[in-house]
Amino acid sequence: MTHTTAQPGRLTDAATAGLTVTLTGVQPTGELHLGNYVGAIRPLADLAADPARDIYVFVADLHALNSCPDPGALRERSRRLAAALLACGLDRPNVHVYRQSRVPAVARMAALLSNVAAKGLLNRAHAYKASIAANVAAGRDLDHGVNMGLYSYPLLMAADILALDADEVPVGADQAQHLEIAVDLAQQFSRSYRPGVLREPRALIAQRTATLPGLDGRKMSKSYDNTITLMAEGNVMSNQIRRIVTDSSSPEQPKDPDTSTLIALLRAFADPRTVAAVEERYRAGGIGYGEVKSLLAKVIDTHVAPMRSRYHRLLTDPAELDARLAKGEQHARQRADRTLARTMAAMGL
Ligand code: TRP
Repeated sequence: MTHTTAQPGRLTDAATAGLTVTLTGVQPTGELHLGNYVGAIRPLADLAADPARDIYVFVADLHALNSCPDPGALRERSRRLAAALLACGLDRPNVHVYRQSRVPAVARMAALLSNVAAKGLLNRAHAYKASIAANVAAGRDLDHGVNMGLYSYPLLMAADILALDADEVPVGADQAQHLEIAVDLAQQFSRSYRPGVLREPRALIAQRTATLPGLDGRKMSKSYDNTITLMAEGNVMSNQIRRIVTDSSSPEQPKDPDTSTLIALLRAFADPRTVAAVEERYRAGGIGYGEVKSLLAKVIDTHVAPMRSRYHRLLTDPAELDARLAKGEQHARQRADRTLARTMAAMGL
């Protein structure tokens, strides 16, 4: 039997420990809504239920800087997002929640990787190209309003992923290109320096694409202003649900459940028996939208209420939130520092 000698700086732990390291980041851009929860947070909580996974989830506060937010607002949003993540099923021993900015190795990794990244690669990134297209359309200078944070967004995201030595990254379609860039940079690093230093991540594509319709029936999104707020107190949520746009059919008329926003939302939260019963009454006729909205509000509230109270408790008890984050950040720092050391050594630093 032959043994390979361990080289200093080769990939360590995740593989040998048999754990899959899953990593994702969320930008602290504002109030979380049901679409964020169903599309991103809940699937991650489902992954976290698998004890063979070690999950790193972070508040992408460095990424948020490229839109130059007010410092107080950024700080507040970051805390809220961290509290929401912890409250929504991610407060578990195999999940490490951290703020990206508290793991210095990430930014240092981005600086190192910038020497491996071809400028042309970043020229092709969707967000940058969209800014250029908007400038062209408005007759402005191509790079008007584009800072280096926006331009090198994919580079920082690659650093997030590669520094934490992630095996898999759950991504939606909008982030697929960013993940490809991270893979590209890992491969480029292997060619320029040596293989076995940076792990190539793989995209984890959601089994069923969970896009939730918003108040107007289009995809629920902050940019369409059609969201249902996740953590609002009082009757904000039921008021929003009452505003969901429906057609003008009367309660007696038969309706198609498959084109109904209300049914789509119900499917995301109600148990299958409840959903089937309502769908049946849609087809037969004899159910009004008002009744469905009340049911929907009740079902969602039952699901969300425990998370909401945990969220508000975390926000009113800064010591507990800080303690949770300190733990996640310590874990993330340890892991990222190891990758950074390997990377620096491989580069001759
Ligand atoms: N760009 C992601 C988004 O806007 C957030 C993000 C930053 C991220 N770094 C990441 C996601 C690393 C996954 C992995 O949704």
